[in-house]
Amino acid sequence: MTRESWQTRIGFILAAVGSAVGLGNLWRFPWMTSENGGAAFLLVYLGIVLAVGVPGLLAEFVIGRRSRRNPVGALSDLSDSKGWTAFGHVFVVTAVVLLSFYSVVGGWILRYVAASATGAYFADPGAYFAGIDYGIEAVAFHLAFLGATAAIVLRGVRRGIESATKLMMPAILVLLVGLAAWGLSLDGAGAGVDFFLTPDFGYLRANFLDILPAAAGQALFTLSLGAGTMVTYASYLGEDRSLVADGTAIATLNTVVGVLAGVVVFPILFALGAGAGAGGPGALFVSLAGAFAALPYGQVVGVAFFGVVALAALSSSISMLEIPVSFLVDEYGVSRPTATASFVGVFAVTGSVCALYPNVFSFVAGTLVDLLLTGGLVGFLLFAGWVMGRGALDEYRRGAGGLARSLATPWLYAVGVVIPVFLVFTFVSGVAA
Ligand code: PHE
Ligand code: NA
Repeated sequence: MTRESWQTRIGFILAAVGSAVGLGNLWRFPWMTSENGGAAFLLVYLGIVLAVGVPGLLAEFVIGRRSRRNPVGALSDLSDSKGWTAFGHVFVVTAVVLLSFYSVVGGWILRYVAASATGAYFADPGAYFAGIDYGIEAVAFHLAFLGATAAIVLRGVRRGIESATKLMMPAILVLLVGLAAWGLSLDGAGAGVDFFLTPDFGYLRANFLDILPAAAGQALFTLSLGAGTMVTYASYLGEDRSLVADGTAIATLNTVVGVLAGVVVFPILFALGAGAGAGGPGALFVSLAGAFAALPYGQVVGVAFFGVVALAALSSSISMLEIPVSFLVDEYGVSRPTATASFVGVFAVTGSVCALYPNVFSFVAGTLVDLLLTGGLVGFLLFAGWVMGRGALDEYRRGAGGLARSLATPWLYAVGVVIPVFLVFTFVSGVAA
């Protein structure tokens, strides 16, 4: 059986952007920004996306396209080493951890699309969210979200992932632009824009070492780095196109959506007088939902907003499920439907645990994800830099021209040495803080 592949270049780019753009941009980013000084955080985050995110994305692409395998098979085939093969299995665990909590949040989002239409939370958003966040209903909505994810992955790379993301991404962009226009038109929106876009350099200097780990964690999460998603997606690339060009386009589009999301969220929070203090993981479901309840056209805007978030979450969750599915298909010759069904069984259980126990949820969504993504990316970087070496350079150069080409060697030093050192240092300093 021939291995699956993307139909078009734009299909690959949109699928990768679909993976990147998700709850990371719309839920985690406003929350992180509000807790870390607004524009000061944005600035550090943008620097890390450029200096760490893009080279890291390229490392995953190089590994994926070179091997044409899932992360486990890739590390195994390209190294012929038992140690790297064993390490590769970490990515199956990472996928399980990621989708377990992500699917719970996805379930909340689905519920809020409906609840916005009926106005169910309008009377008391805080109490409403506290009543539904964990428990048996959260399990039910998590299962619904998981089912939607599986329905797409089941149909395969082209007919499932590629055709779904090709529809979803433009819809997300159009709706976000509309929402931003609405948010900016509100009285008091200016203070929100200011908080988000005008950096306070005094705050930045005073808190740089706290901002750094938060910004690094956010950059990895939002670009889907360190999980093996980008290895997997690049493994379905057929021709010799420029990974550098594609990677840059993907990181840029993801950043545009992240900034757009901030321009939607902060003016709304400030217009309502909630201010930045209303951040936190519940920001979307309490502060922002509260704003919809209080502002003109709240029901329509609420459905549009949570609809965007649902699409963004779904185009990311499929990229999480695709990691273990490709692993079973490649390594064990299992059919796609059987592989999908097996892991849906796993996620049904692990996600339900997150939906029932808030402590498990917080640990999984916070510390554990940060640790796995950082460790995973450091592994990929060292692998590209030290195990692949020349092979990584060849793969990087294939299809690349001009400036991108001349950056190949500096890139290899960056991924082999500088970035891993930076990531480990930042992570440790974040844990120690
Ligand atoms: N980038 C996704 C988001 O921002 C999350 C993600 C992480 C997806 C890792 C796949 C792998 O929501
Ligand atoms: Na997405």
